[in-house]
Amino acid sequence: MTTTVDTASPTYHENREALLEKIDDLAEQHAKALAGGGEKYVARHHKRGKLLARERIELLLDEGAPFLELSTLAAWGTDFPVGGSLISGIGVVEGVECMIIANDPTVKGGSSNPLTVKKGLRAAQIAAENRLPTINLVESGGADLPTQKDIFIPGGATFRNITQSSAARVPTVALVFGNSTAGGAYVPGMSDYVVMVKEGAKVFLGGPPLVKMATGEESDDESLGGAEMHARVSGLADYLAVDERDAIRLGRQIVRRLNWRKQGPTPKASYAEPAYDPEELLGIVPSDLKVPFDPREVIARIVDGPEVDGGTGFDEFKPLYGSSLVTGFAQIHGYPIGILANAQGVLFSEEAQKAAQFIQLANQTDTPLLFLHNTTGYMVGAEYEQGGIIKHGAQMINAVSNSTVPHISVVMGASYGAGHYGMSGRAYDPRFMFSWPNAKSAVMGPAQLAGVISIVARGAAEAKGMPYDEDGDKQMRAFIEKQIEEQSLAYFTSGLLYDDGVIDPRDTRTVLGICLSAIANAPIEGARGYGVFRL
Ligand code: COA
Repeated sequence: MTTTVDTASPTYHENREALLEKIDDLAEQHAKALAGGGEKYVARHHKRGKLLARERIELLLDEGAPFLELSTLAAWGTDFPVGGSLISGIGVVEGVECMIIANDPTVKGGSSNPLTVKKGLRAAQIAAENRLPTINLVESGGADLPTQKDIFIPGGATFRNITQSSAARVPTVALVFGNSTAGGAYVPGMSDYVVMVKEGAKVFLGGPPLVKMATGEESDDESLGGAEMHARVSGLADYLAVDERDAIRLGRQIVRRLNWRKQGPTPKASYAEPAYDPEELLGIVPSDLKVPFDPREVIARIVDGPEVDGGTGFDEFKPLYGSSLVTGFAQIHGYPIGILANAQGVLFSEEAQKAAQFIQLANQTDTPLLFLHNTTGYMVGAEYEQGGIIKHGAQMINAVSNSTVPHISVVMGASYGAGHYGMSGRAYDPRFMFSWPNAKSAVMGPAQLAGVISIVARGAAEAKGMPYDEDGDKQMRAFIEKQIEEQSLAYFTSGLLYDDGVIDPRDTRTVLGICLSAIANAPIEGARGYGVFRL
């Protein structure tokens, strides 16, 4: 593997400065999620002698173990607070990789708004697909009542997922620190193991006011749903914790006894670090998405380096064919991986067919796939339509859709049009999907989209025999371009849970390593059959 990156060139420095600025901004956006409900609610929570959700997670994790937080920017660009009043991520507890889901009680009492539900369901999907035991850290006011119409019905899947995880022999643990009311009572209700904090947990279908309204009965929190009552009387609590730290200790004790065994591949015991410094990724990616870059330079900074025993960093497949898509095999943190990376942006018929073949090869050998997006989509124009670009794109999409090895997608730049689909975009269920802060995902580029609308509007006016308002057209194009630009940004798509997080490009290798290790909790088996390939 060789590099042509000149770290002394002005372009390298310009790219680096531009990306560092975006990474600084990313930290600012993340800070919004870290702030939870803000100083007032954080101070009140501490004053009550309670730990914050992130403090609970920190104490739960093995010392020094990584925590891959997911969907941190959930709700970005919506009316709801950034973070979605929930924290989710993969962390190591007693040596076991677990999905950790924690309500943030400083945000609207930890109640669930539509983005909270979406984030929780995504976390459950990741846990199910990768066979990760789940630990719920519960303290929630239940449904965010003003938004109930958007959450009540879909939110029901939260509880179904917990029991389906148990049926799949993937354990679930609920540590209840505070309120867990109404539907929320089914989080402990459906879990395999339940710990409740004395004088903290309150688990009931209806609190005292609701009971009074429903039956006229006078009651109090403790007799209706206190931890002592559930531990001694109802039997819903398996363990009574004397305080929050004790609950966390009990949670760790439970995981220690799970006798958890990963069913996937074990990584190579030793492997080399990348051939080139990941720091250099910052200077490789141009700030202008229209400027192409060689994805081999990216690959060389995220995959394991050449090994002494004859392995190479990256074994490129079909390097002389379909050069706008780079394909090949490599290893990341000792795990084998097949990589598809866009080079020049556009996907032609050759690239689509090369991808379809490569994906099948990876399935034949049970090798997970990494998709590095930087595409403007499939080529358009009479020559390409006549050459069968739809059929060839369909072959790639067929291969991606029916592939059963785990996929991971990273949007390094543009991810436009059906190229987003062919490269295993969100709707194609990659196990994990991340974006770099400079990434953009949309049906097409903002200027192109505004131009298409303008051409259509002009045609419609002509058909009616009406004059076309040129000034209005200019304004409309500017407005649409701005709107699409904003809606294509990584923060925005991440806010809607269209990826699992926006990451610093320099962290890509680490993030991929954690994902591949999490993926290895489940067996990996390539597809035995595909849909009919339209030839
Ligand atoms: N929906 C919408 N907003 C809610 C909410 C809910 N379920 N629960 C709490 N909030 C809001 C409060 O209105 C308050 O907003 P504000 O600070 O802007 O005035 C904020 O969250 C904090 O609530 P507060 O009651 O001050 O916090 P607390 O820590 O003392 O108590 C609860 C938290 C959850 C115990 C308490 O708010 C509660 O009982 N909520 C209703 C629970 C319920 O019955 N849910 C039914 C769901 S189906």
